[in-house]
Amino acid sequence: MNLTLKVWRQKDAKSEGRLVSYEAKDVLADMSFLEMLDVVNEGLIAAGQEPIAFDSDCREGICGACSMVINGLAHGGQRGTTVCQLHLRHFNDGDTIVIEPWRARPFPVLKDLITDRSAFDRIIQAGGFVSVNTGGTPDANGLPIAKTDADTAMDAAACIGCGACVAACKNASAMLFVSAKVSHLAALPQGKPEREQRVLNMVRTMDEAGFGACTVTGSCEAVCPKEISLDFIARMNREYGKAILKNSPPAKIGGD
Ligand code: SF4
Ligand code: FES
Repeated sequence: MNLTLKVWRQKDAKSEGRLVSYEAKDVLADMSFLEMLDVVNEGLIAAGQEPIAFDSDCREGICGACSMVINGLAHGGQRGTTVCQLHLRHFNDGDTIVIEPWRARPFPVLKDLITDRSAFDRIIQAGGFVSVNTGGTPDANGLPIAKTDADTAMDAAACIGCGACVAACKNASAMLFVSAKVSHLAALPQGKPEREQRVLNMVRTMDEAGFGACTVTGSCEAVCPKEISLDFIARMNREYGKAILKNSPPAKIGGD
């Protein structure tokens, strides 16, 4: 099949970008979207031109690196699918495809389709961990965990930190990502001792990074390649509310 690509090209973070047209000729329906870009890049390199810069790593839907907006939809709009798992059979011969980077102020474009998503790293560093004294490996059944809690934690832990939720949200909200990380750890007994400080620190860091507020439009859930549920945002709001109440200084009564 033959495709026309309109790709966002931007030299660096300070330069202006623009859409540039390329032809993807004789690509196969069974190729992944990234393999198609590889073929286009081989042609550009052979012609002495600068290849299209894009992020990828695992190419099997688990690392979250392959961030791009395809025809206006983060990850291309196939349910539960990352760009690296998106195949050309979902397009038609002769199609024109527009490819852009994530569009959100906290994710500035570094070059072409690559954005700086280190704001997510800062949020994880603020609380997305469990502090433990390491020692001998505990027995697997030494800490029983209810099946429902294990399932909740597992569903939340599926988040790969790709940032599609932010890119799809009109407010550039990171609530789906942060709520998945907060809920994952809060559901497990190992995560409970630090749960209040965790949610307070992660939400504060999220706000400092400039992500917008959640207005529950659900566009994040619709594009999430791991189908993280909006329910986790409700869980995080409860978690945050309890932490605020327990950690607020007592109100002063009367004058000083
Ligand atoms: S919640 Fe979904 S869309 Fe957002 S970072 Fe995690 S996996 Fe990506
Ligand atoms: S390259 Fe790892 S999720 Fe796509």
